[in-house]
Parts: sequence; structure tokens; C-alpha cells
Amino acid sequence: MKFTLPKWYDLHAHFRQDELLPATIQSHLAMGCAGILAMPNTKPPVTRVSGKNTESYWTIESYRAELEAAGNSKLSEIIVPLYLTKETTADMIFEGAKSGLLKSCKYYPPHGTTNSEFGAPIKTYMENGVLAAMEEAGIILNIHGEEHALHGEDYFGKNSNAEDFFYRERVPQIAEKFPNLKIACEHITTKTAADFVSQASDNVVATITPQHLLYTVADLLQGLKYHLYCLPLVKFDEDRQALLGAATDTGNTKFFAGTDSAPHTHKATACGCAAGCFTGLIAPQLYAEAFNLSEQNFDAFKNFLCLNGPKFYDLPISDETFTLEKKSQEFENLKIGGQEVTLLTNGLNRPALSWSLSQND
Ligand code: DOR
Ligand code: ZN
Repeated sequence: MKFTLPKWYDLHAHFRQDELLPATIQSHLAMGCAGILAMPNTKPPVTRVSGKNTESYWTIESYRAELEAAGNSKLSEIIVPLYLTKETTADMIFEGAKSGLLKSCKYYPPHGTTNSEFGAPIKTYMENGVLAAMEEAGIILNIHGEEHALHGEDYFGKNSNAEDFFYRERVPQIAEKFPNLKIACEHITTKTAADFVSQASDNVVATITPQHLLYTVADLLQGLKYHLYCLPLVKFDEDRQALLGAATDTGNTKFFAGTDSAPHTHKATACGCAAGCFTGLIAPQLYAEAFNLSEQNFDAFKNFLCLNGPKFYDLPISDETFTLEKKSQEFENLKIGGQEVTLLTNGLNRPALSWSLSQND
């Protein structure tokens, strides 16, 4: 069984910086990626639009140039969202939009995930004119949808969790107050989020990662498979089924690929675990596995992987192609200098993928 598809866009991934950057970009090119939305949680974070990088902040202009160079100009589209902080102003949004460099802004829950300590609570931007400016200027809001500073049962409990809370309480308020704001709910993991996005206006869409379509918290806990530890956490089977239902629906125009691939050279730390699953090289193969790709659902798969995302972000559909074939394929971990980034599937001790990928250029 073989399927040829237009090259796709990964509309949420982490590429980092320094020596990791060329390696992570190359692993995205190797899996048929035409373009990327590259997350701004670098060190320092991307909190300004134009000009040169400084010690305390990076700019979209400079980081984009670095990403472009790392990919030898083979990525046709590169979006870098502006990392929202309490220093972000409405003027920065209007000027950024006018310059053409600013397409989207990223909300991080303060201290909620890797390098998110510069974020302010969502209420800040709802009240200080930043979301209003984004709505007016047509700038997309990328949301990491978890309520910050929750603990214990409220953070991850039987009946609710940080994402569940955020999609019950916060995102509906944002969508109501800013009806023309385009909102990309990123890496959703719960039935609550999937249901919310399905019933919201066409301005509200969501990305889904391969790991959240394939695995549940049981896979993480049995054997403590920490390479599957990412944020938001993998949830329960009811949630996974809701995500799969949304992604594979033939009428789906709102849900699309965004891997949240996040390279970590040190996953296990002295007192915990770095959050992030690395799915460079292997993401389309994992999505195909999650869909159980066949002639019957090929159109839905193509919508999810290749068409819905670029439509929302107003990007051209690639005229280059790649092919997925139902044939086993294995990959080594990324080796960068003396460091190693473990592929999610290797970290789960299942190195053989059931789909293989080849490029057609
Ligand atoms: O698992 C995650 N890893 N979630 C995030 O939100 C950030 C990411 C990272 O940067 O490693
Ligand atoms: Zn991310």
C-alpha cells in the first residue's frame, strides 16, 4: 500500500538553537516538510519582532534567518510566533503586522512548560490591548492551553486537569470577547478541547501531535517511559478517541498536524524529566499509523496532514510530493557532537515503524 502526498507543514515544532538547529531542521526536511511554524521558547526567547538578537531577547527577523540558513533555504515557509510577555504591547503587534514579519503570537502559561517562565497569565493580554490589537491586525493566537499554577488533583485529576480547565473557562471567554481573533489551539489532548474546537467558529482550529493520537497516560506510566513525557500530558483513552475522531472525520477542516517535536539531549534530570517528545524523521509515519491509513480514509488523512493547516495560515499547498508506504522502516537517534536526541519510538523501545517515507524529488 502506497500513498503520494503534497509536502506538508509542521505547524508547531521546536528547533532550538546552536548545534541542535541544523540537525533538527534537517530531520524535518527529511520527513517531507515543506514549511514550519518554529516555536519561540529559545534561550533567550523570541520576544521582539525585528532587529538583531540581544542577550536578553531574540527577534523574529533574526531567528527566521537562522532557521532559513539551517535548512539551506529548502523550507518554503517559516513562521516564528512572537512569544507573549508582560512587555508585549499593542503597538508592537501593529508594527509587526505592518512589517510583514509577524504572523502569530504564542501564549505560554507562566512556568507551565519548557522555557515558559517569561509568559504572563492570559488575562493580562485580554485586558492590556494585546489580543484586541491581534484581532484588529489579523494576527493569529497560538495557545498552549493549560491553566498555570494548578497543583495535585486540579493539575491532573480523575475528573479534570489543567487543559480541561483552560478549555472550559479561558478559551471560551477569549473567543467570546474577541470573535474575529484567529486562534490555533495547540497540541490539544482532551475531549473537552476537541469538543470545544469542533463547535467553535471557523476562527478556532487545533493542532494534534502524533503521540496524543497514539498513546495514553498508561503508556507513559507502564515502565515509566519518560521519552513520552511531554506537556500537555498524554491523557485517557476517551480523550485519545475524541482526538482521533476529530482528526479522521471526513468533514474535518479544523484539525491538523503540529507535531510539537521537541529535542532534548537530557530527558531525565536529577529531580524530574524534561517535557517534550522528539518526532523529527518519523511524524508522517506515526500519523499514518494513528489513522490506520487506507484507501478509505486517505482523503481525511491528506486534509489533516497537508491541507487544513496551510489553509488556516494562508500558505500555498506544496507542489512537491513525498510517499508513504506500508513497509517497515527504522531510524537511529540524532547524534549531534557528543550529544544524542532520542526518537520517541526508540525511547519506547519500538524502533520499527510500520510506515516508511520517501521523497520524490
Ligand atoms: O512537551 C513540551 N515540550 N511541551 C511544551 O510546551 C514545550 C516543549 C519544549 O519546548 O520542549
Ligand atoms: Zn510546543
